[in-house]
This record gives sequence, structure tokens and C-alpha cells, in this order.
Amino acid sequence: MTRLAVLVSGTGSILQAMLDQKLPISVVQADRKCRGIEIAKSQGNIHAIVVDRHDFGYRRDIGEDWDRQGFTQAVVAALQARRIDLVAMAGFMTILAEPMFEVFAERILNTHPALLPSFRGERAVADALEAGVKITGCTIHVATIELDSGPILAQASVPVELDDDVDSLHERIKQAERKLYPETLKKLMMEG
Ligand code: GRF
Repeated sequence: MTRLAVLVSGTGSILQAMLDQKLPISVVQADRKCRGIEIAKSQGNIHAIVVDRHDFGYRRDIGEDWDRQGFTQAVVAALQARRIDLVAMAGFMTILAEPMFEVFAERILNTHPALLPSFRGERAVADALEAGVKITGCTIHVATIELDSGPILAQASVPVELDDDVDSLHERIKQAERKLYPETLKKLMMEG
């Protein structure tokens, strides 16, 4: 049985969709206190772990002057201690360093709120809106050390409406992610 960990930073609505789809989740790990970790705790049968990046010197706008390496090592160690085989990042907002991609090579998935390779990075929804595209969407992909660049597993398109702002467009994209990510994970876990 594949042991799945989900990494979160925010509201955890994609995590909730995975739970609704009965995905067997062993661990939920967060980089800060957040609603996602509360969802995990309320399940009772999931190990909910916070490895807080602030404990490694992170502050907003601090650039690279914090211990990203040490943070990554702590994340990896916590996942290994729980014998995790597959990692699904679901709105995890910290870029992990090399050790993660060495230890879990080809076993880390991510969802990105745009149709990759367009609009990489954390401003994906705003960038798509500013570019004036009429269709955007979401991408489920294998995560590699190079941000938002690994092999694409699945994509869904989402229309941009004339009166969209970043929030309304992101919410429509998240609806697509909540369907596509659990489906893609299920298939992958069934294939072994
Ligand atoms: C998703 O759009 C994900 O692609 C992005 O953050 C969002 C996570 O939403 N990186 P939630 O925390 O699951 O509600």
C-alpha cells in the first residue's frame, strides 16, 4: 500500500477534496500553522506535522537569507520517519531544496494553477489575467528541482470571464484542481 503525504500551506481545500475522494492519506505536513493542518488533525487517523519555516529563519521578503537547506532536511526526515512513498504538494508555498528531490525523486507531485509551461511561479493566476488569455487552467505534474517544470501528468482548462479578478479566477481554477488532482493521484496509486 502506497503511503501518501500531502504538503499544504493554506486553506487546504484541495486536501479536503482528496479526503472527500477517499484517498488514503497517511501524513499531512505544513510549513506553517494553517487551516490545512487543522483539517488533517480533525480526521483523527492522519499524522499532522508542522515543520515551521519560521524556525529556520524565514521571514517575508528576506530573500535567500534563511536556512532553506535545513528546513528541507527537516521536511525529508519527517516524511522518512513516517515511511512515506509518495508526496503530493497541494498549495505548498515553500520551494524545497535539492535533498527533497534526491530522496523522493519522481515521487513528488504538484498542482499548479495555470496551463504549464505558461505562467510558472507563484503569480500564475495574476500573470494569466494580466496577459489577457481567454483560457487558463491547472496542471498536475511531477515536481522537480526546477520550479513548475517537471513532466506533465494531467491538465484541465478553465475559461477566463470578462469580469474576473485574481480571486474569482483562482477559485474557478481551484474547482478544477479539486477534481483533477484526486483523480490523477488515484490512478497513479492504483498503477502502483
Ligand atoms: C492551488 O491553486 C494551488 O495550485 C496553489 O495554491 C492553491 C491551494 O489551495 N499553489 P488550497 O490551499 O488547497 O485551498
